[in-house]
Amino acid sequence: MKLEIDQQRLNSEIETLAAISDAEPPAVTRIVFTPADLKARAWVISRCQEARLAVRQDAIGNIFARWSGADPAAPAVGTGSHIDAIPNAGKYDGVVGVLGGLEAIRALQRSGFRPKSSIELLVFATEEPTRFGIGCLGSRLLSGALSADAASKLKDCAGETVDEVRRKAGFNANLQDVKLPKGYYKGFVELHIEQGPLLDSAQIALGIVRSIAAPASLRISIEGAGGHAGGVLMPDRKDALCAAAELILAVEHAALSTGATDTVATVGVCDVFPGAVNSIPSRVRITLDIRDTDLARRDGAMQTIERASRDIAAKRQVSIQSELLNADAPENCAPEVRAALAESCREHGFPFLEIVSRAYHDSLFLSRIAPTGMLFIPCRSGYSHRPDEYAAPENIARGALVLAESLAKLSA
Ligand code: GLV
Ligand code: MN
Ligand code: MN
Repeated sequence: MKLEIDQQRLNSEIETLAAISDAEPPAVTRIVFTPADLKARAWVISRCQEARLAVRQDAIGNIFARWSGADPAAPAVGTGSHIDAIPNAGKYDGVVGVLGGLEAIRALQRSGFRPKSSIELLVFATEEPTRFGIGCLGSRLLSGALSADAASKLKDCAGETVDEVRRKAGFNANLQDVKLPKGYYKGFVELHIEQGPLLDSAQIALGIVRSIAAPASLRISIEGAGGHAGGVLMPDRKDALCAAAELILAVEHAALSTGATDTVATVGVCDVFPGAVNSIPSRVRITLDIRDTDLARRDGAMQTIERASRDIAAKRQVSIQSELLNADAPENCAPEVRAALAESCREHGFPFLEIVSRAYHDSLFLSRIAPTGMLFIPCRSGYSHRPDEYAAPENIARGALVLAESLAKLSA
């Protein structure tokens, strides 16, 4: 079987998708179920149909595009990623796995290969946590990691529930039916940019993921007392933003003080109310994103933050309430999928690194229901979640080639 990836076409499709965005190029913003996201989804679906894949969508908006195998009733082999993008993102996060996955399937079709098991491209809905606070909503539901009931009640920042938002976008089916039946996939492989610097600095084009780090996130609300910025004297204040500032530094300190480079913690959102120059902040909402490759160490850092938050609340006479959104365990990638990827790399003489994913991915949840693996390609300087995210076309094509060969092996 001679496989050829159409690098030029793949690259031009990545550019076309990047233009469907709510941000000024080169930035990409595509928040789930906004008009830009819906337009991007429709465009991807039309590309899949052009490749003669049978497309269906579920109640949360996961897209399945299937190339039927010789044994259509056998468990399928899946690949894919996401196309939603955080505010002010780049072009490649998720997209490389979706359009690279599609090109991998087209390359297999062009070669005359006929899979025994069906090969299915999956475009996961709402991988990014921007809208509903929690990442990987589509794959959490597919894998049963989150119940339909819990998911339907999640709200966006405008107070609209997942159910209201998805129905407005035309997804009216029953959320209970999103969960995949046992044995649906016999294997799953996600192609993704590394989102860290290791491959780029080692000048190695491929990374085979060993394990995916454990993410957790919280919404934290700090209530103090507002008032006139001139009239209320300093000793009498309960400034919610000053308390938040202390807490944010405590978060940084908690991550640093584990002594492990794998512990990372971020406060990426800080909403100040009422947000007026001459008004003492009475309420602040922040988010906490904390991750580690080691579950116990991550949970230890979370407890340190919890203690700091109680101390700050007592000292500053404010109330601090935390809502845990998710606290997931790490996952190891499946030996058989890693072996298929490694075999393809070795056949071509492509060097690769065995690597840990510090970012989370839908594969974290797919691995609960199917043998799952991930293939990384470098992104320049490790930059991701920013407009200057860049992956070289030749590395994307190499990733798509190894992906295609691995899909062929797994589906034979
Ligand atoms: C995924 O986008 C992540 O934040 O790891
Ligand atoms: Mn991302
Ligand atoms: Mn991603």
